Amino acid sequence: MMNPFRPTAGATPPELIGREGMLDEFEYGLQLGSGAPGLLTIITGARGIGKTALLSAAQGAAARHGWVVVPETATPGFVGRIGETMRLHLDELGSGPTGRRITALGVAGFTVTTQLPPERQVDWRRLGNQLLNVLAEKKTGLLFTVDEIHSADRAELSQLAADVQHFIRDGLPIGLIFAGLPAAVSDLLNEGVATFLRRAERIDLHAAAIAEVERSYASTFREAGISIGSDLVRYAAEATGGYPFLIQLIGYQLWRQAEINNMALEKTNIDQAINAATRRHEATVIEAALSTTSDKDKDFLRAMAEDDGPVVAGDIGKRLNAKSNVVANYRARLIAAGLIEAPAYGKVDFAIPGLREYLRKTNA
Ligand SMILES: Nc1ncnc2c1ncn2[C@@H]1O[C@H](COP(=O)(O)OP(=O)(O)OP(=O)(O)O)[C@@H](O)[C@H]1O
Ligand SMILES: [Mg+2]
Repeated sequence: MMNPFRPTAGATPPELIGREGMLDEFEYGLQLGSGAPGLLTIITGARGIGKTALLSAAQGAAARHGWVVVPETATPGFVGRIGETMRLHLDELGSGPTGRRITALGVAGFTVTTQLPPERQVDWRRLGNQLLNVLAEKKTGLLFTVDEIHSADRAELSQLAADVQHFIRDGLPIGLIFAGLPAAVSDLLNEGVATFLRRAERIDLHAAAIAEVERSYASTFREAGISIGSDLVRYAAEATGGYPFLIQLIGYQLWRQAEINNMALEKTNIDQAINAATRRHEATVIEAALSTTSDKDKDFLRAMAEDDGPVVAGDIGKRLNAKSNVVANYRARLIAAGLIEAPAYGKVDFAIPGLREYLRKTNA
């Protein structure tokens, strides 16, 4: 059996741990076909928490219901690319008059510009309308998913939102799921780029329960004939903190250790696996996240790292000798960036596991 763990951003994990029921509302919407709240969903969460993985699960569910799925990432020109993909689907589906008409109109070439010029926008919406009508007749629908919404061009996004809103008004079977850092979403909703998105279903992702990770590890290793004591499974599960990326990283390293150790895992193997996984996590997640912060943000984070757990935001202000409005500013920005979270009123804690330890180590 091959190593089943997938410690790569965007990779589909062997098991989606701790996400049961999260897509229920969305799947219910797929049955209703149009206008259901779950068909408009926003997934938010810190880096590596599993947004893209959940998005993939939603795409899978839609495809199982016979829906056409158009997956995109919000890099420049994404609305145009959605248009291109819709055209391809329409060509595929409608060998009849619809397809020919689209070709005759010469709708190709959406991807050339970032923001579509007005005439292209008209084409885009007409194309969407036609595809949706074909799909509605087939009792299926069309799902757009847009990942990494934090990098979206506002003008493009508001155009997409306006078009989707039209489709919804016309009772067409359209679904739209966004995924991004909490930052993006709170900004987007506040800026009024797409006010109707405020009514979207929200899925805020957090770490999975340790017990769930433990159960998953235990069954994966058992099925593979890898021997590991139950206390050691627990130990490894705890080291993940329930954080999806670490679940994959540690699982992957454990598997490798088992391969070179006659399919048996001892405490030393587990420690080695955890160390290797931690190094990788620091290099890929933590350093990337910190690279987007200012020196002042880092001061705030370092002041937080003096505590072992959640800390009252006001105390950080005292440590930094900063006024409460200044503290509130940093707090809001770092929460939005997905680096910290507010576990209880007035308190803050790190949203990325290992960030505290990393800041302490590199404090020099
Ligand atoms: N529920 C889960 N259970 C176990 N592993 C998961 C789960 N969700 C995601 N993963 C794994 O965790 C890692 C990160 O997942 P993913 O790329 O979906 O996170 P993300 O939130 O999109 O991160 P980013 O903010 O960097 O885009 C991947 O290796 C993925 O396979
Ligand atoms: Mg992602």
